[in-house]
Amino acid sequence: MAYAIHATKPGGTDVLETVEFKPEAPASNEVQIEHHAIGVNFIDVYIRTGAYPWPVEQNLILGCEAAGVVQAVGSGVSGFREGDRVAYTLPNGAYSTHRNINISHVVHLPDNIDYQTAAGCMLKGLTCYYLLHNSFKVEAGHKVLFHAAAGGVGLIAGQWLSAIGATAIGTAGSDEKCALALSNGYADVINYQTDDFVAGVKAFTEGGMVNVVYDSVGKGTWPGSRDCLKRHGTLVCFGQSSGPVEDFKISDLAVGSLYLTRPTLFHFVADRDWLEKAAAEMFDMIGSGKLNIAINQTFDLKQAAQAHEALESRATTGSTVLIP
Ligand SMILES: NC(=O)c1ccc[n+]([C@@H]2O[C@H](COP(=O)([O-])OP(=O)(O)OC[C@H]3O[C@@H](n4cnc5c(N)ncnc54)[C@H](OP(=O)(O)O)[C@@H]3O)[C@@H](O)[C@H]2O)c1
Repeated sequence: MAYAIHATKPGGTDVLETVEFKPEAPASNEVQIEHHAIGVNFIDVYIRTGAYPWPVEQNLILGCEAAGVVQAVGSGVSGFREGDRVAYTLPNGAYSTHRNINISHVVHLPDNIDYQTAAGCMLKGLTCYYLLHNSFKVEAGHKVLFHAAAGGVGLIAGQWLSAIGATAIGTAGSDEKCALALSNGYADVINYQTDDFVAGVKAFTEGGMVNVVYDSVGKGTWPGSRDCLKRHGTLVCFGQSSGPVEDFKISDLAVGSLYLTRPTLFHFVADRDWLEKAAAEMFDMIGSGKLNIAINQTFDLKQAAQAHEALESRATTGSTVLIP
Protein backbone atom coordinates (compact mmCIF):
# COMPACT_ATOMS: atom_id res chain seq x y z
CA MET A 1 0.00 0.00 0.00
CA ALA A 2 1.21 3.52 -0.78
CA TYR A 3 1.77 5.77 2.22
CA ALA A 4 3.06 9.22 3.05
CA ILE A 5 4.33 10.96 6.17
CA HIS A 6 1.95 13.80 6.98
CA ALA A 7 2.53 16.68 9.37
CA THR A 8 -0.78 17.85 10.75
CA LYS A 9 0.44 21.14 12.24
CA PRO A 10 3.78 22.78 13.14
CA GLY A 11 5.44 21.21 16.17
CA GLY A 12 7.74 18.48 17.48
CA THR A 13 8.40 15.21 15.68
CA ASP A 14 5.15 13.83 17.14
CA VAL A 15 3.21 15.77 14.47
CA LEU A 16 4.54 13.33 11.83
CA GLU A 17 1.99 10.62 11.01
CA THR A 18 1.98 7.75 8.50
CA VAL A 19 -1.12 7.92 6.25
CA GLU A 20 -1.96 5.29 3.62
CA PHE A 21 -3.42 6.40 0.29
CA LYS A 22 -4.32 5.12 -3.17
CA PRO A 23 -2.24 6.92 -5.81
CA GLU A 24 -4.31 8.70 -8.47
CA ALA A 25 -3.46 8.61 -12.16
CA PRO A 26 -1.03 11.39 -13.08
CA ALA A 27 -2.64 14.53 -14.53
CA SER A 28 -1.64 16.23 -17.73
CA ASN A 29 2.14 16.89 -17.90
CA GLU A 30 2.70 14.82 -14.76
CA VAL A 31 4.53 11.56 -14.16
CA GLN A 32 3.93 9.21 -11.25
CA ILE A 33 7.18 8.33 -9.49
CA GLU A 34 7.67 5.37 -7.21
CA HIS A 35 10.27 6.73 -4.79
CA HIS A 36 13.33 4.60 -4.01
CA ALA A 37 15.13 7.16 -1.84
CA ILE A 38 14.10 10.49 -0.28
CA GLY A 39 16.50 13.15 1.02
CA VAL A 40 16.12 14.71 4.47
CA ASN A 41 17.07 18.38 4.70
CA PHE A 42 17.23 21.02 7.37
CA ILE A 43 14.48 22.92 5.53
CA ASP A 44 12.16 20.02 6.45
CA VAL A 45 12.93 20.78 10.10
CA TYR A 46 12.34 24.53 9.65
CA ILE A 47 8.94 23.82 8.08
CA ARG A 48 7.92 21.11 10.58
CA THR A 49 8.79 23.32 13.56
CA GLY A 50 7.11 26.43 12.12
CA ALA A 51 10.42 28.34 11.82
CA TYR A 52 9.44 28.80 8.15
CA PRO A 53 5.81 29.63 7.28
CA TRP A 54 3.43 26.64 7.14
CA PRO A 55 2.69 26.38 3.40
CA VAL A 56 -0.82 24.86 3.41
CA GLU A 57 -3.85 25.00 5.64
CA GLN A 58 -3.83 21.52 7.14
CA ASN A 59 -1.98 18.31 6.38
CA LEU A 60 1.42 18.75 4.80
CA ILE A 61 3.74 16.13 3.36
CA LEU A 62 7.31 17.27 4.06
CA GLY A 63 10.38 16.47 1.96
CA CYS A 64 12.05 18.40 -0.86
CA GLU A 65 14.13 15.88 -2.85
CA ALA A 66 13.72 12.30 -4.02
CA ALA A 67 14.65 9.76 -6.67
CA GLY A 68 12.81 6.80 -8.14
CA VAL A 69 11.19 5.19 -11.17
CA VAL A 70 8.45 6.56 -13.41
CA GLN A 71 5.44 4.29 -13.01
CA ALA A 72 2.90 6.10 -15.18
CA VAL A 73 2.76 9.16 -17.42
CA GLY A 74 -0.07 11.64 -17.86
CA SER A 75 -1.31 13.11 -21.12
CA GLY A 76 0.95 15.52 -22.94
CA VAL A 77 4.13 14.15 -21.38
CA SER A 78 7.11 13.91 -23.69
CA GLY A 79 10.66 12.95 -22.80
CA PHE A 80 9.68 10.61 -19.93
CA ARG A 81 8.48 7.01 -20.12
CA GLU A 82 7.45 4.28 -17.73
CA GLY A 83 10.57 2.72 -16.22
CA ASP A 84 12.74 5.87 -16.47
CA ARG A 85 15.05 6.53 -13.51
CA VAL A 86 14.48 10.11 -12.35
CA ALA A 87 15.00 12.61 -9.52
CA TYR A 88 13.81 16.05 -8.49
CA THR A 89 13.93 18.80 -5.89
CA LEU A 90 10.80 20.79 -5.08
CA PRO A 91 9.34 22.29 -1.88
CA ASN A 92 7.48 19.61 0.11
CA GLY A 93 5.62 16.45 -0.88
CA ALA A 94 8.52 13.97 -1.04
CA TYR A 95 8.05 11.91 2.18
CA SER A 96 5.85 9.47 0.30
CA THR A 97 6.16 6.11 -1.44
CA HIS A 98 4.59 7.52 -4.63
CA ARG A 99 4.12 10.97 -6.03
CA ASN A 100 2.59 12.63 -9.07
CA ILE A 101 4.72 15.54 -10.19
CA ASN A 102 4.90 17.98 -13.10
CA ILE A 103 7.71 17.00 -15.47
CA SER A 104 9.16 20.53 -15.38
CA HIS A 105 10.77 19.57 -12.03
CA VAL A 106 12.07 16.14 -13.04
CA VAL A 107 15.48 15.17 -14.47
CA HIS A 108 16.71 11.84 -15.81
CA LEU A 109 19.33 10.00 -13.79
CA PRO A 110 22.46 8.82 -15.59
CA ASP A 111 23.04 5.06 -15.20
CA ASN A 112 26.00 5.60 -12.86
CA ILE A 113 24.00 7.65 -10.31
CA ASP A 114 22.16 5.43 -7.84
CA TYR A 115 18.92 6.43 -6.13
CA GLN A 116 20.41 7.18 -2.72
CA THR A 117 23.12 9.35 -4.23
CA ALA A 118 20.50 11.24 -6.24
CA ALA A 119 18.30 11.72 -3.17
CA GLY A 120 21.35 12.97 -1.30
CA CYS A 121 22.36 15.57 -3.87
CA MET A 122 19.38 16.96 -5.80
CA LEU A 123 18.77 19.62 -3.14
CA LYS A 124 22.13 19.76 -1.35
CA GLY A 125 24.37 19.44 -4.42
CA LEU A 126 22.37 21.85 -6.57
CA THR A 127 22.50 24.26 -3.63
CA CYS A 128 26.30 24.02 -3.76
CA TYR A 129 26.11 24.66 -7.50
CA TYR A 130 24.28 27.97 -7.17
CA LEU A 131 26.23 29.03 -4.06
CA LEU A 132 29.59 28.61 -5.81
CA HIS A 133 28.55 29.70 -9.34
CA ASN A 134 25.70 32.19 -8.98
CA SER A 135 25.50 33.76 -5.50
CA PHE A 136 29.24 34.39 -5.66
CA LYS A 137 31.44 33.14 -8.50
CA VAL A 138 34.21 31.27 -6.73
CA GLU A 139 37.48 31.15 -8.67
CA ALA A 140 40.78 29.36 -8.21
CA GLY A 141 42.79 31.15 -5.54
CA HIS A 142 39.79 32.55 -3.67
CA LYS A 143 39.67 32.01 0.07
CA VAL A 144 36.31 30.82 1.32
CA LEU A 145 34.75 30.23 4.75
CA PHE A 146 31.99 27.60 4.82
CA HIS A 147 30.12 26.96 8.09
CA ALA A 148 28.72 23.55 9.11
CA ALA A 149 31.35 21.96 6.86
CA ALA A 150 30.60 18.37 7.92
CA GLY A 151 26.86 18.64 7.16
CA GLY A 152 24.97 17.55 4.06
CA VAL A 153 25.64 20.72 2.07
CA GLY A 154 28.99 21.30 3.77
CA LEU A 155 30.67 18.03 2.76
CA ILE A 156 29.69 18.51 -0.88
CA ALA A 157 30.78 22.17 -0.84
CA GLY A 158 34.28 21.34 0.45
CA GLN A 159 34.93 18.92 -2.39
CA TRP A 160 33.50 21.31 -4.98
CA LEU A 161 35.54 24.27 -3.71
CA SER A 162 38.67 22.15 -3.81
CA ALA A 163 37.88 21.07 -7.40
CA ILE A 164 37.57 24.74 -8.39
CA GLY A 165 40.97 25.44 -6.82
CA ALA A 166 39.74 27.66 -3.99
CA THR A 167 41.12 27.44 -0.46
CA ALA A 168 38.21 26.36 1.72
CA ILE A 169 38.14 26.94 5.47
CA GLY A 170 35.35 25.12 7.28
CA THR A 171 33.76 25.20 10.70
CA ALA A 172 32.18 22.25 12.48
CA GLY A 173 30.81 21.43 15.92
CA SER A 174 33.13 18.63 17.07
CA ASP A 175 36.67 17.40 16.51
CA GLU A 176 35.33 14.29 14.72
CA LYS A 177 33.31 16.49 12.35
CA CYS A 178 36.40 18.69 11.75
CA ALA A 179 38.42 15.61 10.77
CA LEU A 180 35.67 14.48 8.39
CA ALA A 181 35.50 17.91 6.72
CA LEU A 182 39.29 17.96 6.37
CA SER A 183 39.08 14.76 4.34
CA ASN A 184 36.43 16.34 2.08
CA GLY A 185 38.32 19.20 0.49
CA TYR A 186 38.74 21.72 3.30
CA ALA A 187 42.26 23.08 3.83
CA ASP A 188 41.52 23.99 7.46
CA VAL A 189 38.56 23.33 9.75
CA ILE A 190 37.83 25.16 13.00
CA ASN A 191 35.78 23.66 15.83
CA TYR A 192 33.49 26.64 16.45
CA GLN A 193 32.10 25.06 19.61
CA THR A 194 35.48 25.33 21.31
CA ASP A 195 37.44 27.92 19.32
CA ASP A 196 36.92 31.48 18.10
CA PHE A 197 36.44 30.98 14.35
CA VAL A 198 37.20 34.63 13.49
CA ALA A 199 40.60 34.29 15.15
CA GLY A 200 41.08 30.95 13.37
CA VAL A 201 40.37 32.47 9.96
CA LYS A 202 42.63 35.41 10.73
CA ALA A 203 45.49 33.06 11.71
CA PHE A 204 45.05 30.71 8.72
CA THR A 205 44.86 33.57 6.20
CA GLU A 206 47.65 35.52 7.95
CA GLY A 207 45.29 38.45 8.36
CA GLY A 208 44.11 38.50 4.74
CA MET A 209 40.65 37.08 5.59
CA VAL A 210 38.30 35.55 2.98
CA ASN A 211 36.57 36.62 -0.25
CA VAL A 212 33.26 34.98 0.66
CA VAL A 213 31.53 33.47 3.69
CA TYR A 214 28.75 30.90 3.24
CA ASP A 215 26.65 31.02 6.39
CA SER A 216 23.74 28.62 6.98
CA VAL A 217 23.99 28.76 10.77
CA GLY A 218 22.61 32.27 11.30
CA LYS A 219 22.27 33.54 14.85
CA GLY A 220 25.24 31.59 16.21
CA THR A 221 27.74 32.82 13.61
CA TRP A 222 26.64 36.45 13.18
CA PRO A 223 28.46 38.89 13.31
CA GLY A 224 31.60 36.72 13.26
CA SER A 225 30.96 35.75 9.62
CA ARG A 226 31.02 39.41 8.60
CA ASP A 227 34.26 39.92 10.51
CA CYS A 228 35.97 37.16 8.48
CA LEU A 229 35.52 39.04 5.19
CA LYS A 230 38.08 41.00 3.23
CA ARG A 231 37.13 44.48 2.09
CA HIS A 232 34.43 44.19 -0.66
CA GLY A 233 33.81 40.57 0.40
CA THR A 234 30.47 38.78 0.08
CA LEU A 235 28.35 37.22 2.81
CA VAL A 236 25.98 34.56 1.50
CA CYS A 237 23.39 33.82 4.20
CA PHE A 238 21.47 30.73 3.13
CA GLY A 239 20.08 29.21 6.32
CA GLN A 240 19.60 29.56 10.05
CA SER A 241 20.16 26.21 11.76
CA SER A 242 20.90 27.99 15.07
CA GLY A 243 18.05 30.50 14.69
CA PRO A 244 17.45 33.71 12.71
CA VAL A 245 19.78 36.72 12.79
CA GLU A 246 17.71 39.41 14.44
CA ASP A 247 20.09 42.28 15.12
CA PHE A 248 21.27 43.10 11.57
CA LYS A 249 21.46 46.69 10.28
CA ILE A 250 22.36 47.69 6.71
CA SER A 251 25.10 49.87 8.17
CA ASP A 252 26.77 46.67 9.48
CA LEU A 253 28.05 46.19 5.92
CA ALA A 254 29.84 49.55 5.91
CA VAL A 255 32.81 48.10 7.82
CA GLY A 256 34.24 46.81 4.52
CA SER A 257 31.89 47.91 1.71
CA LEU A 258 30.51 44.37 1.93
CA TYR A 259 27.92 42.55 -0.18
CA LEU A 260 25.13 40.45 1.30
CA THR A 261 22.73 38.02 -0.37
CA ARG A 262 20.06 35.67 1.00
CA PRO A 263 19.34 33.14 -1.79
CA THR A 264 17.11 30.08 -1.97
CA LEU A 265 17.54 27.07 -4.27
CA PHE A 266 13.95 26.98 -5.46
CA HIS A 267 14.38 30.28 -7.31
CA PHE A 268 17.21 28.67 -9.32
CA VAL A 269 15.63 25.29 -10.12
CA ALA A 270 12.46 27.05 -11.33
CA ASP A 271 14.53 27.93 -14.42
CA ARG A 272 14.47 24.71 -16.46
CA ASP A 273 17.64 25.58 -18.42
CA TRP A 274 19.52 26.22 -15.17
CA LEU A 275 18.21 22.98 -13.65
CA GLU A 276 19.30 20.85 -16.60
CA LYS A 277 22.75 22.46 -16.85
CA ALA A 278 23.45 22.38 -13.12
CA ALA A 279 22.19 18.80 -12.67
CA ALA A 280 24.22 17.57 -15.67
CA GLU A 281 27.42 19.22 -14.36
CA MET A 282 26.79 17.84 -10.87
CA PHE A 283 26.18 14.29 -12.15
CA ASP A 284 29.37 14.56 -14.27
CA MET A 285 31.36 15.65 -11.20
CA ILE A 286 29.97 12.67 -9.26
CA GLY A 287 30.57 10.27 -12.16
CA SER A 288 34.17 11.41 -12.58
CA GLY A 289 34.89 10.95 -8.87
CA LYS A 290 35.39 14.66 -8.10
CA LEU A 291 32.34 14.65 -5.81
CA ASN A 292 31.35 11.92 -3.40
CA ILE A 293 27.85 12.19 -1.93
CA ALA A 294 28.25 10.71 1.55
CA ILE A 295 25.02 9.04 2.62
CA ASN A 296 25.99 8.74 6.26
CA GLN A 297 22.53 7.98 7.70
CA THR A 298 19.62 6.01 6.26
CA PHE A 299 16.23 5.52 7.91
CA ASP A 300 13.07 3.72 6.92
CA LEU A 301 10.58 6.30 5.57
CA LYS A 302 8.32 5.48 8.54
CA GLN A 303 11.17 6.59 10.82
CA ALA A 304 11.17 10.16 9.48
CA ALA A 305 10.74 11.45 13.05
CA GLN A 306 13.99 9.78 14.15
CA ALA A 307 15.75 11.24 11.11
CA HIS A 308 14.56 14.72 12.10
CA GLU A 309 15.68 14.21 15.69
CA ALA A 310 19.15 13.17 14.51
CA LEU A 311 19.49 16.19 12.19
CA GLU A 312 18.18 18.71 14.74
CA SER A 313 20.46 17.42 17.48
CA ARG A 314 23.57 17.82 15.28
CA ALA A 315 24.11 14.05 15.38
CA THR A 316 24.39 13.64 11.60
CA THR A 317 27.15 14.23 9.07
CA GLY A 318 26.78 14.33 5.29
CA SER A 319 23.43 13.40 3.76
CA THR A 320 20.49 11.61 5.39
CA VAL A 321 18.17 9.50 3.26
CA LEU A 322 14.78 7.86 3.91
CA ILE A 323 14.07 4.52 2.23
CA PRO A 324 10.39 3.65 1.50
N1 LIG B 1 18.80 28.58 1.04
C1 LIG B 1 18.94 27.43 0.39
O1 LIG B 1 18.75 27.36 -0.82
C2 LIG B 1 19.37 26.22 1.14
C3 LIG B 1 19.42 24.97 0.50
C4 LIG B 1 19.92 23.87 1.22
C5 LIG B 1 20.28 24.00 2.53
N2 LIG B 1 20.18 25.22 3.12
C6 LIG B 1 20.61 25.39 4.51
O2 LIG B 1 21.92 24.89 4.63
C7 LIG B 1 22.10 24.37 5.95
C8 LIG B 1 22.62 22.95 5.85
O3 LIG B 1 21.56 22.11 5.43
P1 LIG B 1 21.69 20.53 5.56
O4 LIG B 1 20.36 19.98 5.27
O5 LIG B 1 22.88 20.08 4.81
O6 LIG B 1 21.94 20.37 7.13
P2 LIG B 1 23.28 19.92 7.88
O7 LIG B 1 24.37 20.89 7.55
O8 LIG B 1 23.53 18.49 7.63
O9 LIG B 1 22.83 20.09 9.38
C9 LIG B 1 22.84 21.36 9.96
C10 LIG B 1 24.15 21.59 10.73
O10 LIG B 1 24.12 22.91 11.24
C11 LIG B 1 24.99 22.96 12.34
N3 LIG B 1 24.39 23.71 13.44
C12 LIG B 1 24.93 24.81 14.02
N4 LIG B 1 24.18 25.24 15.02
C13 LIG B 1 23.12 24.39 15.10
C14 LIG B 1 21.99 24.32 15.96
N5 LIG B 1 21.80 25.20 16.96
N6 LIG B 1 21.09 23.32 15.78
C15 LIG B 1 21.28 22.43 14.79
N7 LIG B 1 22.32 22.45 13.94
C16 LIG B 1 23.25 23.43 14.09
C17 LIG B 1 25.27 21.51 12.77
O11 LIG B 1 26.61 21.20 12.39
P3 LIG B 1 27.77 21.39 13.48
O12 LIG B 1 27.46 20.48 14.63
O13 LIG B 1 29.01 21.03 12.76
O14 LIG B 1 27.71 22.84 13.90
C18 LIG B 1 24.31 20.70 11.95
O15 LIG B 1 24.80 19.42 11.67
C19 LIG B 1 20.77 24.52 6.66
O16 LIG B 1 20.75 25.73 7.40
C20 LIG B 1 19.80 24.60 5.50
O17 LIG B 1 18.60 25.23 5.81
C21 LIG B 1 19.73 26.32 2.46
